[in-house]
Amino acid sequence: MTVESVRPQSPATPQASVLREPPLAQGALPVLGHGLRLVRDPLAFMSALRDHGDVVRLRLGPKTVYAVTTPELTGALALNPDFTIDGPLWESLEGLLGKEGVATANGPRHRRQRRTIQPAFRLDALPGYGPVMEEEAHALTERWRPGETIDCTSESFRVAVRIAARCLLRGDFMDERAERLSVDLATVFRGMYRRMVIPLGPLYRLPFPANREFNRALADLHLLVDEIVAERRASGQRPDDLLTALLEAKDDNGDPIGEQEIHDQVVAILTPGSETVASTVMWLLQVLAEHPEHAEKVRTEVESVTGGRPVGFEHVRSLTHTNNVVVEAMRLRPAVWILTRRAVTDTALGGYRIPAGADIVYSPYAIQRDHRSYDRHLDFDPDRWLPGRAGNVPKYAMSPFSVGNRKCPSDHFSMAQLTLITAAVSAKYRFEPADGSDDSTRVGITLRPHNLLLRARPW
Ligand code: HEM
Repeated sequence: MTVESVRPQSPATPQASVLREPPLAQGALPVLGHGLRLVRDPLAFMSALRDHGDVVRLRLGPKTVYAVTTPELTGALALNPDFTIDGPLWESLEGLLGKEGVATANGPRHRRQRRTIQPAFRLDALPGYGPVMEEEAHALTERWRPGETIDCTSESFRVAVRIAARCLLRGDFMDERAERLSVDLATVFRGMYRRMVIPLGPLYRLPFPANREFNRALADLHLLVDEIVAERRASGQRPDDLLTALLEAKDDNGDPIGEQEIHDQVVAILTPGSETVASTVMWLLQVLAEHPEHAEKVRTEVESVTGGRPVGFEHVRSLTHTNNVVVEAMRLRPAVWILTRRAVTDTALGGYRIPAGADIVYSPYAIQRDHRSYDRHLDFDPDRWLPGRAGNVPKYAMSPFSVGNRKCPSDHFSMAQLTLITAAVSAKYRFEPADGSDDSTRVGITLRPHNLLLRARPW
């Protein structure tokens, strides 16, 4: 089935009369509806919904939310302008990170902002980031001592933030600031998720240590962004990077964009850029520890591609197995496990009526683990992405960067760094769990292991 064939009809068309109301997902409790099950085990809950229908209604307390469960319809949703970025997920993000950044804007402002940031992520811009990506990937392995316990959470955040900050906001000062940013962001994301799932507004204003730590990290994040912008301006330099593009961007009237928008844009790029990559690096390290046969295969591939030299950006395209390991890790543990949209008008999806204002939710985690789309769906099998087999995967059943106008601008940038990091760490070390390691899945704004602790052993 193609997207076009599932593209909704406007309710104004004659087909409107045959639109159905989506079924209510089973298991709703009085008053709470599905909320308890969603909070208790969101991954299992979202994964079971397809058994109830292609589009189903969920009751979350007094509210009705629509869940989309098939790959085709998630593609149709993401490509349909009747659905925009909005809803509880985005509202809570906006409150903390700002309202004027690309990740939360809609309409003409969003299109203008995408035009501003897109050149920094184009394929032909990537080689310019190669030296920083290489340096950071190798620095990671050089910091680790053989046999020492590695705290994968902080190490993954560190490399992700440093690459995003150094590549996109270039400047010598970034080395020291990237360190501060990674500490701030780790704290902010932890607190943001808590505030999203347990929205107890006043409680978060009480002077508990956790609240103070969150407020301090959030304030420092905003301060850092202001410092970065102010220093760039004061330097009088205009390197060819994303920060220059943001500072020189014009609004639709041709006037410079406001200070708040510049600030929110930097935040809106740094925050998704670090949490997602950091979570994926953690899962990659976990996969290398859990599947030594694939770690060995990656090492062999790197050695044969590089001839034993340090792996570099120019090798990334030839590292096909390594790339497949990254893709398969992202299939089973997508950093972005839940996405939401809001209907801006009465509309339809897959033959179901969706009223204006409805919140729609779907889970890339559920879609990418569905047995209807994947043979041996829970097996870690990087070879399923080999050319002969990848064609069996239904359209939109593997879209970890989403599709349509909100598609992640950083898909190539992210894949290049993830492949390079995986290659660099695998060339030097094999990994085994250390005492106290807990690789069970922690559900937050992204998915990541609770507390991954590994020992790196030289080959
Ligand atoms: C949007 C995933 C890395 C910047 C998105 C979306 C997804 C995603 C699924 C779309 C959200 C939606 O449809 O509602 C990922 C994954 C990453 C990654 C899986 C890495 C493993 C990055 C990086 C950056 C970045 C490294 C920047 C340095 C953004 C921005 C948006 C976005 C700015 C908002 C785009 C818009 O709304 O137009 N990302 N991302 N992402 N991502 Fe990423």
